[in-house]
Parts: sequence; structure tokens; C-alpha cells
Amino acid sequence: MADLTNIPITDIIKKRKSWRTYTDKPVEIEKKEQVLQFIANLKKPPFNSATRFEMVDLDMNFTGKVSGTYGVIKGAETFIAGIVGKGPGDMEDVGYLFERIILFATAIDLDTCWMGASFSRELFAEKITLKPEETLPVVSPIGYRAGRRSLTDLVFHMSAGSKNRKSWPEIFFYRTFNESLDKSSAGKLEMPFEMVRLAPSAVNKQPWRLVEDDNAVHFFLKRTAGFKSMFTMDLQRIDMGIAMCHFEIAANITFKSGLWKIENPDIPYVPKDVEYIASWKYLKDN
Ligand SMILES: Cc1cc2nc3c(=O)[nH]c(=O)nc-3n(C[C@H](O)[C@H](O)[C@H](O)COP(=O)(O)O)c2cc1C
Repeated sequence: MADLTNIPITDIIKKRKSWRTYTDKPVEIEKKEQVLQFIANLKKPPFNSATRFEMVDLDMNFTGKVSGTYGVIKGAETFIAGIVGKGPGDMEDVGYLFERIILFATAIDLDTCWMGASFSRELFAEKITLKPEETLPVVSPIGYRAGRRSLTDLVFHMSAGSKNRKSWPEIFFYRTFNESLDKSSAGKLEMPFEMVRLAPSAVNKQPWRLVEDDNAVHFFLKRTAGFKSMFTMDLQRIDMGIAMCHFEIAANITFKSGLWKIENPDIPYVPKDVEYIASWKYLKDN
């Protein structure tokens, strides 16, 4: 198995959680090969950025802390690094494809943790020979979670409120930002919307806002105040790519066809701090 078809993807989305504490059991060569095969078969992302994903092995000290992760990750030695050529849509694209890899890893019983901040870019950049036109926005360990989270893991998990997700009326809208979308009237869109709601996001801020329109769903980013300047990378645009990934995977189950278009729909009442990202267009009678 080296793709996401024929696996219960909605269960995999529900199963995935961020793990920062791992047993020292190395990832088997066969599983590493499966992941590499999956990466080799990835299709082009919605904004057509040049991406590459590398598998990197790191060193651990005698306490299990992994060099290059500021003590956040314990026990894992294999990582995937997400690299993208700078350009419009670069962060969304790396988020979109990296999440596919994370879901595939979850499907073959590996644990992961999205990391956009708590890792040493210098150390990873050296291992993957980063080119001047590229950036390295994210990495994730792959491995087997330990029975218990370390104290650091617990602090990250609790302080981000990782278990919680926003409610439907806070993030999903119908035609304008003045009207929330009711779950019971979402029809075939219910499952794709729900899969977006369960997506991981940086510090669990869940900045995605979706608007259902005629034969289209528009994706907007509601930025968290002060967030962008706190991090080297625009992590909330990565969150948007993850949401697009979840939505498309789920929509492909319920709709026969659909595709990404970048065409600002100019819908009314878009709040000031909200940015348009992309739209998913589909045929209604599918
Ligand atoms: C783009 C992105 C960047 C993240 N960066 C970090 C990070 O640097 N360190 C970390 O411990 N967790 C990081 N996380 C994990 C989030 O805190 C986590 O996904 C969120 O709290 C939801 O929890 P869950 O993944 O267990 O569902 C990141 C997640 C995303 C999507």
C-alpha cells in the first residue's frame, strides 16, 4: 500500500494526534521504504509549487532527547523534512502535501508531530542541503509513541488545548460571513467540512474559515493577532494547506469531481482580518 486510496481515510484523520514522546524502537526499513514510495508518488499541489520531502535520521543523547528539537521530541530518530521553493502559495502547498504524508504514516501505524517552530532549521538545512531558492517550513518525527507523554509533551499538548476544536458556527458559513452554516443542512458537504474541523493547526488556532457558495466552497484565513511575527514561517498558511488536504480527500469520497481554483469570489461581509486563499469548485448534481 503506497497511496491513500482504499484506506478508511476519515478514521485515519480521527486517529492522528501529535506525539512528542517515542519509544526507541526504530522505524523498520520496509516502512521507511513505504513512506518514501508514497512521497515519490505525490501529485502536484494546488498552487504548483516545487516541493521536496526528505527523510532524515538524527542523533539522540543518552536521555532520549533528539538533537535539533530543543528537547521537545524524545525517542524518535527518523524525521521527514518538508521543503518548498519560495513563491505564491508555497506554504499552503507544503501544508497540503505534508499532511498527505502524515496521514499515510498514520495509516501504516506510525506516529507523527507537525513541527513548524520547535526545531533547529540550521541543523536540518545542513542535512538536506537547502538551496537558496528553498525554505524548510516543517518537519515531523515518524516513529512509535511511548505509553506516556513526557512532561514537555504534556505542556505543549495542554497549553495548545490540542484536544479541542471550534464549533461549526464559528468556522463554517453559508454564502456570506453573516450566516453560519448549519451542520444539518450541509448535506454531502458535511463530512468534508467535519474533516477540516478535525485538522491539526499551529498552536491549535484553527484559522480556517469556509464559506459554502453556489457549487463552490471558498477557503479563507482568519489570522491570529500577533501570530505571524512570532514565527519565522507563515504557519497559518500551512494550516490552510492542511485544511485543503483534508477537505479534498473527504470530498473525493462524496463528489465525483471537484477542483481547486484561485479566484476571489468577492463575497459580502468578509471581516477585515480575513484573507481569501482558494476555492474548491464542484458539480452540484454529482
Ligand atoms: C503548521 C503546524 C506547526 C506546528 N508546530 C509545532 C511545533 O513547532 N512544536 C510542537 O510541539 N507542535 C507543533 N504543532 C502541533 C500542534 O500544536 C497540534 O497539531 C495542535 O495542538 C493540535 O493537536 P493534535 O495535532 O494532537 O490534534 C504544529 C502544528 C501545525 C499544523
